[in-house]
Amino acid sequence: MRVCVLGSTGMLGIALSKEVIRRGAEYVGVARRNASVCFDVSDDAALSDFLRRERFDVIINTVAIIDHAACEAQPGLAYMVNSRPSSIIVNAIRRCYFVQISTDGYFTGDGSQKHNESSRVVLLNEYARTKFAAEMFALGSSESLVVRTNIVGFRNNKKATFVEWVVNSCKHEDHITLFDDYFVSSISVSLFSKALLDLIEKKTYGMINLASSEVFSKAEFIRTLVEVFGLCLKNITTGSVKKLPFHRAESLGLDVSRAEKILKYRLPTLNDVILNLKDEYFALQ
Ligand SMILES: NC(=O)c1ccc[n+]([C@@H]2O[C@H](COP(=O)([O-])OP(=O)(O)OC[C@H]3O[C@@H](n4cnc5c(N)ncnc54)[C@H](OP(=O)(O)O)[C@@H]3O)[C@@H](O)[C@H]2O)c1
Repeated sequence: MRVCVLGSTGMLGIALSKEVIRRGAEYVGVARRNASVCFDVSDDAALSDFLRRERFDVIINTVAIIDHAACEAQPGLAYMVNSRPSSIIVNAIRRCYFVQISTDGYFTGDGSQKHNESSRVVLLNEYARTKFAAEMFALGSSESLVVRTNIVGFRNNKKATFVEWVVNSCKHEDHITLFDDYFVSSISVSLFSKALLDLIEKKTYGMINLASSEVFSKAEFIRTLVEVFGLCLKNITTGSVKKLPFHRAESLGLDVSRAEKILKYRLPTLNDVILNLKDEYFALQ
């Protein structure tokens, strides 16, 4: 099997690449720098020439501008990076399985409710709009899988991930705001990658939620992480996600029953996710 990971040097791309290689597949990674093949996916010609020249059995697109403020500031660029490549990919490939990594950022106002693949979406910001457009482009092909998720992990470069920020803030006693009205079902990128590769092997198509089997608040996530990592929360306040400077969906719980039914195993709980992050964190030290 020949697999291409677009965005191979990012938080998810690194974990996915490791899992693809661990399973013995032939692998090609793409990013703008430090990847096996380097180009900008917003360059239509570069992307379609690459896909026509190379033959893949599976393409997994993880590329996105994930910074919400950057998407608000430059909606045109956000569209070119987050949405349009999905359409170019669908048009360029033949007999190839396309996996578009999406988001959970579509649900608001119903607290810790779980949302399934057909729950009504609300597009509150440019990030959500551009990710949703990418979903629609991908679903134009019957050989596509769109994966909604909320991921956590390590990037190990200058741009700290959420988990790296929590760990560093605790170590330096920097201030942390705990949001107890912001609900997620975050899964670690390595547990996500294993489950995604299992779904791909089972030839799963359409839309699927792949996340933790539990919904928890960001505050609960941080408290659990701090306890399991043996850290200390000193400089904290409790805040509301509704006070953040731009509209952000906050009821992001995902119902993962469809994925669990196909996979025939339970997806990780909050505790499983944090224990997995702890193993990875100490392996990196
Ligand atoms: N992180 C989250 O909290 C989260 C939550 C839910 C869903 N997701 C989704 O999960 C996916 C992966 O997120 P992530 O956190 O792993 O992102 P990330 O760490 O920012 O990685 C993005 C990857 O894409 C590459 N890239 C960015 N712009 C590019 C361009 N124009 N052309 C080619 N490559 C480009 C980056 O490398 P270069 O910059 O070197 O090109 C990097 O390899 C995204 O689709 C995101 O929407 C993320």
